[in-house]
Amino acid sequence: MRHITRTLLGFTALVVSLQSFADSKDPNLDLIHARQGEMELRSYFLGPLVAMAKGDTPYNAETAASFSKSLQLLNGLDMDRAWSPGTANDKYEGKTKALPKIWNTYPEIGKYGEKYEAAVDALAGSAGNGLNELRANLGDVGKACKACHDDFTAKK
Ligand code: HEC
Repeated sequence: MRHITRTLLGFTALVVSLQSFADSKDPNLDLIHARQGEMELRSYFLGPLVAMAKGDTPYNAETAASFSKSLQLLNGLDMDRAWSPGTANDKYEGKTKALPKIWNTYPEIGKYGEKYEAAVDALAGSAGNGLNELRANLGDVGKACKACHDDFTAKK
């Protein structure tokens, strides 16, 4: 019995490692991970700004300035390759929420991106100047995130 268990465990480990090997063999999965990672960073910087705006945490000018500028810095990354055609959720179901519409209607999504970047620029230039300034400019950023997700990502 112990022997069988060990064999089974060994087999499971082999299957798991073969799977991750297969994953790393498909470069499109690396692209998907990269763009999702950049999106995670957007959340990472946006979250504390939202908490301050809502009054859940005290306003801190230094954090407000540096986190909003960090969001702005992300927009300077060259992420184009991470959005290569052929990487939508029709082909990579369960791996990505990116809808084929991103590519089918291209460059429509670019307008959403431009709106988002303009909102982040306004935020980065003002969030460190006081809670009211943060509040005044954060809404447009949140709306821009949501608008793009509503129109270009799968709901689940
Ligand atoms: C111009 C379009 C666009 C804008 C603007 C945008 N996103 Fe996204 N976001 C996407 C797309 C498309 C995906 C799906 C990516 C995928 O699964 O491959 C996504 C996915 C995500 C994810 C999930 C990442 C994961 O690990 O699966 C998070 C979190 C996220 N976005 C946060 C944000 C935040 C926060 C903002 C605003 C500060 C934002 N996004 C602005 C298009 C956008």
